Amino acid sequence: MAHADLDQAAKAILTENDQGGYTIPTKGLYPYQWNWDSVFVALGFAEFDQDRAWQEIEMLFQGQWRDGMVPHILFRKDDPSYFPGPGVWGTDGGPIPSSGHSQPPVAASVVHSLVEADRTGKALERAKALLPKLMAWHRWYLAYRDPKNLGVIAVIHPWESGRDNLPDWDEALRAVEVKDIGPYERKDTSHVDPAMRPHKEDYDRYLSIVAACRKVGWDPEKVAETCPFFVADPGVTFIFLRANRDLLALAEKLGMSAEADEIRGWIAAMEKGSRTLWNDEVKAHVAFDERRGKQTDGISSASFLALYAGLHDPQTLGALQGHFDRIAERVEYLMPSYDPDHRSYEPLRYWRGPVWAMINYMIAKGFAEAGDAVRAERLRADTARLIETGGFAEYFSPETGAGAGGGSFSWTSAIWLTWASPSHAEQAA
Ligand code: DGY
Repeated sequence: MAHADLDQAAKAILTENDQGGYTIPTKGLYPYQWNWDSVFVALGFAEFDQDRAWQEIEMLFQGQWRDGMVPHILFRKDDPSYFPGPGVWGTDGGPIPSSGHSQPPVAASVVHSLVEADRTGKALERAKALLPKLMAWHRWYLAYRDPKNLGVIAVIHPWESGRDNLPDWDEALRAVEVKDIGPYERKDTSHVDPAMRPHKEDYDRYLSIVAACRKVGWDPEKVAETCPFFVADPGVTFIFLRANRDLLALAEKLGMSAEADEIRGWIAAMEKGSRTLWNDEVKAHVAFDERRGKQTDGISSASFLALYAGLHDPQTLGALQGHFDRIAERVEYLMPSYDPDHRSYEPLRYWRGPVWAMINYMIAKGFAEAGDAVRAERLRADTARLIETGGFAEYFSPETGAGAGGGSFSWTSAIWLTWASPSHAEQAA
């Protein structure tokens, strides 16, 4: 398909997945509003309808909990094609039925991008209305996902990381006792080839964590203290650190000096803390199981997000350039979600190897900002080739480029429109 046709097809997917102000990731597999999906989708809408882009984020924040958390799924209507639905979660924290934990906090960064690209003249006003909500969410992250002030953000569930079956979670997840779940029927494997999805042993534990948190009423303090899974995630940590930098830029633009001072403190703590995720053997930032005090030993695509988080020191940049080039020799398309030289790599199983367009977008931004335009452009060109080859799939094989998981996917379409499409790159040049 010609680029202009792909641009049209991407817009058509966003329009079709639009539920009237918010967008589902894809029909069937994910029939609700997902947190970081929606936020990336706003970047896509911004290319042709900026008002609609803001609406996407505003509707996500309608579901914000009283304690500041913005949930990972908003169940605006019941849909039996998805499991686990609202009845399994048993939450009561906000105005809209929802799941009980969050997802990577990309919203402040996207709000900042919308302000920068504004053509409506209304962006600052809308950002100003969102700022207290973003502040509340970020404070919630610090209070309940970094209760010991380590300067790193933990996830209480693999789903909270957005990278569900990442090998980094394997050991911590195996330590979760399977209990209080009863018989259940998965729906995901009726929509997608089971070989591309997590195993049943993973699902048993995903649901056991939900059951454990439901038992303490989703009280955030109790969840932080007792949840059987509590792993510091370089993905969420780097996305959060970056989001704080963008939130600071917004607060400064809006003249909110008290907020700006508060955010500066967060950034300093996170810059220091995130260095503790460095694994000197593998020469990259990795996950850290806070319950067992143990680092993981594999490089995930999130290790590259150190640059996106603004950690451009020569040691980090040099190590990541080295890993980038090594991995580029191993696979046809960058960036696999897990190191192809690691024993746990699987090219088609969800987060154990496949390439994801929105992760490439963030990694490339980081390389570009660190002064490495060549590797940034390689990521853009690979993402474009993947979409040309595999369509607007959920994710892609790094080896063959085949599309995998769900089809007609909203965030893949959005990332095409905002960054990967050669027509976008030409305009930007
Ligand atoms: C799922 O249902 O697979 C989702 O990734 C959970 O967020």
